[in-house]
Amino acid sequence: MEPTTIRPGIFSVGAVDWDRRLFDSLIPLPDGTSYNSYLVRGSEKTALIDTVDPTREEELFRHLQQLGIEKIDYIVAHHGEQDHSGALPAVLRKYPEAKVVTNPRCKGMLMDLLHIAPEQFQEVQDGEVISLGDRTLKFIYTPWVHWPETMVTYLAEEKMLFSCDFFGSHLATTDLYVTDEGRVYEAAKRYYAEIMMPFHTNIEKNLEKLKSYNLEIIAPSHGPLYNRPEFILKLYRSWVFDEPKNIAVIAFVSMHGSTLKMVNYLTEALAKRGVEVRQFDLPVTDIGNLAMSLVDAATLVLGTPTVLAGPHPDAALAAFLTNALRPKLKYATIIGSYLWGGRTVDIVKGMLPNLTNIELLDPVIIKGLPKEADYAGLEKLADMIGQKHKSLSSPFSCTINEEYKNRISKF
Ligand code: FEO
Repeated sequence: MEPTTIRPGIFSVGAVDWDRRLFDSLIPLPDGTSYNSYLVRGSEKTALIDTVDPTREEELFRHLQQLGIEKIDYIVAHHGEQDHSGALPAVLRKYPEAKVVTNPRCKGMLMDLLHIAPEQFQEVQDGEVISLGDRTLKFIYTPWVHWPETMVTYLAEEKMLFSCDFFGSHLATTDLYVTDEGRVYEAAKRYYAEIMMPFHTNIEKNLEKLKSYNLEIIAPSHGPLYNRPEFILKLYRSWVFDEPKNIAVIAFVSMHGSTLKMVNYLTEALAKRGVEVRQFDLPVTDIGNLAMSLVDAATLVLGTPTVLAGPHPDAALAAFLTNALRPKLKYATIIGSYLWGGRTVDIVKGMLPNLTNIELLDPVIIKGLPKEADYAGLEKLADMIGQKHKSLSSPFSCTINEEYKNRISKF
């Protein structure tokens, strides 16, 4: 793709990665991604905002060449992760006079990860500004969106926010701005679930910190830009602040069908009680879809047979990820089948130390193929979940906690 003009003297110069299918050797990317980099020309100085993944640095250089960029004064590094910083060493070789502008923590990370020499940095503090002449970059620390060093940049004269991972979406597209909001909703929610949800309390603080800024454009470092910032701000407010919805996620694995019979029975029993169920057969599940459902779900039911005295490894992975993602779940339980014993329930419970606010409902662990008494146990569990979900709203309504209403009303 060609470099794209956002405003006069402001260009998108990054790379679209149509074919990438896995991020961090963990996260599925069904729609590819992009590594957005931006060039801002002022009357006196020129700044490059983030770089690209090192696998795509040729594209960045081609764009800079097409724009005739012979000198870069500043390279703003919002974040140490290599999908944005990885091309920094090559950019510094090509533009050796450029200073890497970042915060002290990110500087340390870039020195560790990329062996950039300390004299190549210009440190900035939270709220500090750098003038490009007729344009001003203001740096705002926004820790934990995605790592502890992350920050964003506000270009005051254009009311633009360069947000790096914050508000991003893994989506390869030729669109500069969001055009298909439904598609971007899915991609941004997946991104939030996988990347941001573990830090949702920090997201809350950072949303608060940004609310006094007048925004006309949000330019993240993945996916299309938002020329209607309210679209993504509203979604983030909903994902962070809304109460969990009337949704039960059943994430399960079954080896010979006993656990599957339990899962299907419980699914129907919950549906009869008005609970929306989302089933995920773990060995074939895209974990991004599971993560997205955990953004809204009130209950997690983990279904697993007992294998080698504990949960099936796929169920253990789901428990590990749920614990790491820290969703707003209210309730959790375990169902499954064993034959000669094991410690499945204790092991799974021990894998959820971060979920301190959830109520663990009585598990239903049965011997062999489910019998009448076992189905009665599932009915009882469905009754319990149905009762607890009675006060929860449907998946498509918005019920922001009272305590947050005033705090976010200025957006
Ligand atoms: Fe897009 Fe945390 O890197």
